[in-house]
Amino acid sequence: MTDPQMLVGGVAADRIAAIQAREAAIFTRIRPGTRAALDKGAAPFLGGVPMLWMTDWPQPFPMLVAKAEGARLTDIDGNRLDDFCLGDTGSMFGHSPEPVARAIAAQATRGLTYRLPTEDALEVGQLLQDRFGPFRWQIATTASDANRFALRVARAVTGRPKVLVFAACYHGAVDETFVAPGADGAAVNRPGLVGQVVDLSQISKVIEFNDLPALEAALAEGDVAAVLAEPVMTNCCMVLPDPGYHAELRRLTRKHGTLLILDETHTISSGLGGYTRTHGLEPDMFVLGKPVAGGLPASVWGMTEDVAARYKAFDATRPAGFSGIGTTLSANPLQFAAMRANLAQVMTEENYARMEKGAARLERGLADVIQRHGAPWHVVRVGARVEFICHPTPLRNGSESHVAHKPALEKAIHAALVNRGCLIAPFHNMMLVSPVTGADQIDRLIAAFDEITAELME
Ligand SMILES: Cc1ncc(COP(=O)(O)O)c(C=O)c1O
Repeated sequence: MTDPQMLVGGVAADRIAAIQAREAAIFTRIRPGTRAALDKGAAPFLGGVPMLWMTDWPQPFPMLVAKAEGARLTDIDGNRLDDFCLGDTGSMFGHSPEPVARAIAAQATRGLTYRLPTEDALEVGQLLQDRFGPFRWQIATTASDANRFALRVARAVTGRPKVLVFAACYHGAVDETFVAPGADGAAVNRPGLVGQVVDLSQISKVIEFNDLPALEAALAEGDVAAVLAEPVMTNCCMVLPDPGYHAELRRLTRKHGTLLILDETHTISSGLGGYTRTHGLEPDMFVLGKPVAGGLPASVWGMTEDVAARYKAFDATRPAGFSGIGTTLSANPLQFAAMRANLAQVMTEENYARMEKGAARLERGLADVIQRHGAPWHVVRVGARVEFICHPTPLRNGSESHVAHKPALEKAIHAALVNRGCLIAPFHNMMLVSPVTGADQIDRLIAAFDEITAELME
């Protein structure tokens, strides 16, 4: 049994539990329509939800959304929320950005999927190069798929079997990434995987982020096709690269003939062109999913001219048969219409400038609350993405971030924020500021965070 006086992130466990219970009761009381609708209609779904992640929210049951506009959600009971989760980055530029909604509506009457490109597709190719760099692009539907396909190409062109990832990473439903460092440093399958029968140490290596000697040692064995990395680790509590880390990561991967794949699916918050362009990085392959089509399912993966030439040479010699790359509904005309509008009119310098300004306001406000109440926490920001972390000091790697994560405390804060009209991501305390997020919304979130922090720390 947990000691009720034990401090979690500076707060007694019994206080956290009491707040969580109170907020759960409030959540339920103001959602009678939602409760009744779920009781009537949720049974056909495994676990009562259409996708099991929808039970990750720290509320007794999920909200049923009636509509979302700009950076606001309304549930079927009429509760309005300022949305800082924004579909966990899929709607990072706001819900249904007007140019994207218009483009989707126009395409919707001209056919939804053909297995053939459109003129929009050609425009998207140009826009992708303009925004992210001179890569040779392919379109997929999820970032998980894009990562899987990039890894296939990396293995094909290097002739090497293994992928190196960082402890506590997340790159989607990609088997190679579901590893943790074992006692002797070798990769072991992460606990909790469903239906995993392959020993992933055969195809993966895992080390800590920001550990250059470990990187050099792992690459020196000459069996790593690619390092798959987020430029900043975002899927634990955010971990920033040490100064100079990316330069060394690039130097060592080149030295050892390993490709560098940067997955920008979350770090696209950094600025136009993602962390890569903002910080002048030089990956061999670039992956982006979630917001690339303004919230419509789409992802892109690109490779440098050099990798493309190596892939062409490989492809010319492989036996006939399915490559394992591609899915039927990918590169459909709806995706191209949405991507074209999003890349040209929504993912712009001006919108990033707005996001940066709003996120800086949020960062300052939260940091000030933490300091005033003497909470042993800190705030970290990567462009439009802000997180509060219930740990006193910045984190250097996934294992530190694992320890810093305080699920019970974070859930209680989250639940209290929702009942004060502010929705943040259901884990890792992520808050995104979109170009249409108002200063009033940001200030309401800061005020709600102030109220709950004051109660927790009193
Ligand atoms: C960095 C990163 N890559 C890939 C993915 C997978 O995206 P999807 O679930 O859309 O396939 C995620 C999802 O959170 C992610 O954070």
